[in-house]
Amino acid sequence: MSQSRLITVSSGKGGAGKTFVSILFCRELARLGKRVALIDVDLGTPNVHIKLRQKPSKSLDSVLQQQCSLSSALVEIPADQWQPAVAPGGKFYFLKGVSGASEFLGGDLDTQDKFLLDFQGLMAQLADEVDLIVLDTGAGVEFNVVPFCMMAEDLLVVVCDDESSRSDAWELMAIVQGLKDPPQSWVIANQVKDEKMGKTISNYLVKLLKKYCRSTTALPEYLGWIPDSGESSSSAKEQSRAIDLMDTETDASRAIHQLATLLLKHHAEDVGDGYHDRVQSILNR
Ligand SMILES: Nc1ncnc2c1ncn2[C@@H]1O[C@H](COP(=O)(O)OP(=O)(O)OP(=O)(O)O)[C@@H](O)[C@H]1O
Ligand SMILES: [Mg+2]
Repeated sequence: MSQSRLITVSSGKGGAGKTFVSILFCRELARLGKRVALIDVDLGTPNVHIKLRQKPSKSLDSVLQQQCSLSSALVEIPADQWQPAVAPGGKFYFLKGVSGASEFLGGDLDTQDKFLLDFQGLMAQLADEVDLIVLDTGAGVEFNVVPFCMMAEDLLVVVCDDESSRSDAWELMAIVQGLKDPPQSWVIANQVKDEKMGKTISNYLVKLLKKYCRSTTALPEYLGWIPDSGESSSSAKEQSRAIDLMDTETDASRAIHQLATLLLKHHAEDVGDGYHDRVQSILNR
């Protein structure tokens, strides 16, 4: 049985910073000595490879279609591109996503189950190689996103300080909260100016969940806040700009380092039930 831990990054809303957080979170986990694999499961417009300035020929799709092995499709980002390490032993791998792949999880239940089973097999292979698997989802709260949230042990919900981001994050958390065995959800307030604003956003969401959701178990917890590192822009050109992994000293990088440290501390105190069981419970729905 796998000892690796599955973390999904989602937000409901598009453009809230899922990919930014996923990449920098993985870098910080690697710097902290963890072997981490980032899987781009944005089935609409995957862009982790663009943000990492990588052009792998193989993707999640190639592996699922059995055109190549997982190990040949995984790309390792060399340590000299994300150092300085804080602890030894870290590794940073990623698997390119596949665009226009919503049919994997659309369609009938059999197609969905096949996708989830194949995906589970892939995760099981990865479990021997890494300590943590991070899934960067697309936007939305539909079939192309929710299964990846359901199978996670930790769900990082990225939310910004605007009405549509809050309401989309709330909708995602309400769906997840209604599950038989929900993951632990963590609120990450992104592009906010201070801790006070981060906590206000998180408290607001938790209060709404308590009010409208029957289940009060596994309520989301506040993980922390990330300031704007000054690079965000709504222009398409800026949005496709690569992330500089060497820049570990921006305010956003330092904040994400804190969040990664906090999550690892939580993991050390809590033995998860494993995503294999979680995928199984989705299949037994
Ligand atoms: N804290 C931050 N500081 C600076 N720039 C940020 C921050 N968070 C996000 N950004 C920038 O905002 C833009 C949108 O972020 P990102 O692509 O990560 O969002 P997303 O939620 O993954 O979007 P999508 O729903 O399209 O997948 C990007 O240009 C990203 O670099
Ligand atoms: Mg994204």
